[in-house]
Amino acid sequence: MASSHSATAETFNYTVVRQFAIMTVVWGVVGMLVGVIIAAQLLWPQLNLDIPFLTYGRLRPLHTNAVIFAFGGCALFASSYYVVQRTCQTRLFAGALAAFTFWAWQLIIVSAAITLPLGITSGKEYAELEWPIDILITLVWVVYAIVFFGTIVKRRVKHIYVANWFYGSFILTVAVLHLVNSAEIPFSWIKSYSAYAGVQDAMIQWWYGHNAVGFFLTTSFLGMMYYFIPKQAERPVYSYRLSIVHFWALIFTYMWAGPHHLAYTALPDWAQSLGMVFSLILLAPSWGGMINGVMTLSGAWHKLRTDPILKFLVVSLSFYGMSTFEGSMMSIRTVNALSHYTDWTIGHVHSGALGWVGMITFGMLYYVIPRLWGRDKMYSMKLVEVHFWTATIGVVLYIAAMWIAGVMQGLMWRATEPDGSLTYSFVESVKATWPFYLIRLIGGLTYLTGMLIMAFNVFKTVIGQTPVNPVVPMEGESLTAQHLVSAPAKA
Ligand code: HEM
Ligand code: HEM
Repeated sequence: MASSHSATAETFNYTVVRQFAIMTVVWGVVGMLVGVIIAAQLLWPQLNLDIPFLTYGRLRPLHTNAVIFAFGGCALFASSYYVVQRTCQTRLFAGALAAFTFWAWQLIIVSAAITLPLGITSGKEYAELEWPIDILITLVWVVYAIVFFGTIVKRRVKHIYVANWFYGSFILTVAVLHLVNSAEIPFSWIKSYSAYAGVQDAMIQWWYGHNAVGFFLTTSFLGMMYYFIPKQAERPVYSYRLSIVHFWALIFTYMWAGPHHLAYTALPDWAQSLGMVFSLILLAPSWGGMINGVMTLSGAWHKLRTDPILKFLVVSLSFYGMSTFEGSMMSIRTVNALSHYTDWTIGHVHSGALGWVGMITFGMLYYVIPRLWGRDKMYSMKLVEVHFWTATIGVVLYIAAMWIAGVMQGLMWRATEPDGSLTYSFVESVKATWPFYLIRLIGGLTYLTGMLIMAFNVFKTVIGQTPVNPVVPMEGESLTAQHLVSAPAKA
């Protein structure tokens, strides 16, 4: 009923989307800068200047929190609020609550940026923030769910477009993960102890950790894929049916794969094997989704030659395919015996993080920013192209260096002499890794340079031109049929 007519005075709420989009760029620069600093510290440890706040152990969680929850989180808030409004053809439910999610999320990020360098941490990876901040996270998340699902409920189209399924499952799952893993007993305002102990604590932590990757860094970004690739390619999703199968298979399988982080530990053998088997099965839905995204370009491949935004989106999918294949292989226990504790894991992480999460976020931002500010395109498409190549070269340098370093470390640590003694001391493996850390630093710097180019381009787009795009409704403008955006499914 809603697709036509401009009689309604309802408008999209773009204010909150704009705010989150800008902060995605800001936190991207900050988080990656900290990444570059810690990469440099691994080469020259004296760069911590003997100041406790700047030591590697404190800056590392600052990096992971900044890139995952600040950069990634803001990108997800921005894109989910954009997509849910456009595909439901209705304004966000409860604008004041949406504004609350923005300001409170920024408060959480700033609290993290203060407490982590001070050494205030729960010690659980990717869940380091202490209990008062955990409570605030819970509150924001509940409000986020109300805004998102409230918008779905008041939608003006019958169908719920598949991207919203992915975003919705991410919101629900992260709520459950956060609540269960952060159960802790407060000791003081800045210290708490986990409610779990021993191997149960480890299992809960990695059930959380893996699904944080699975839902915060994957399922949600697949929601992005299902909206922005069809839009930018101007083609319907290759197979809508496959997208539904993809959704259910992925979310079911992810939940069981966590034990691959605990191979060869005190975790019972059967649980380790279960984790390994589910991680191998996970390859099928992962690649099914990737193929669905890539095949959406059928008939539009020629656009890749000239459209750098589409390049970002499609190359991100290649990295998604690569990192999921790699992850499934690393879950095989005999492979994990070699890869665990080495820089191979760091290579895997960043092929997912820089290649998949980073690149699809850049594509999404280059798509939405001109539309949010009513411009017909970015200030400079040439700079988008330059960003694409710096990002690609940066990732490749980073991950290739870490793969070589990782396999080398694994082999050096297990090498033995005929009498059973170790061939190499640990420090020899550290020395051998040095050149690869240097290549990784160069790759990281290249990637960060691309991020800075993007920040400049976004800044110029936002302030530098007068609004010229007539197709996008601005605040205060009516919705019309032209604004209907959900990509039609192929029968
Ligand atoms: C310029 C870009 C980046 C650089 C130079 C960089 C550098 C680093 C370094 C040096 C580490 C520590 C590795 C170690 O302990 O051996 C690290 C860890 C990590 N980074 Fe990045 N990073 C960058 C971007 C990102 C992005 C965009 C994300 C996520 C979206 C990310 C996610 C992570 C994660 C999850 C870890 C922890 C990995 C683990 O514990 O296995 N990084 N990064
Ligand atoms: C089919 C999909 C995937 C599987 C089966 C998988 C599997 C694995 C395995 C086996 C490890 C090493 C565990 C260890 O030895 O400690 C790992 C680590 C990791 N993976 Fe994946 N992976 C997948 C996809 C991804 C993607 C797409 C990303 C990022 C967007 C990602 C991010 C990470 C991170 C951050 C870690 C490091 C965790 C830590 O120790 O701190 N993974 N993954």
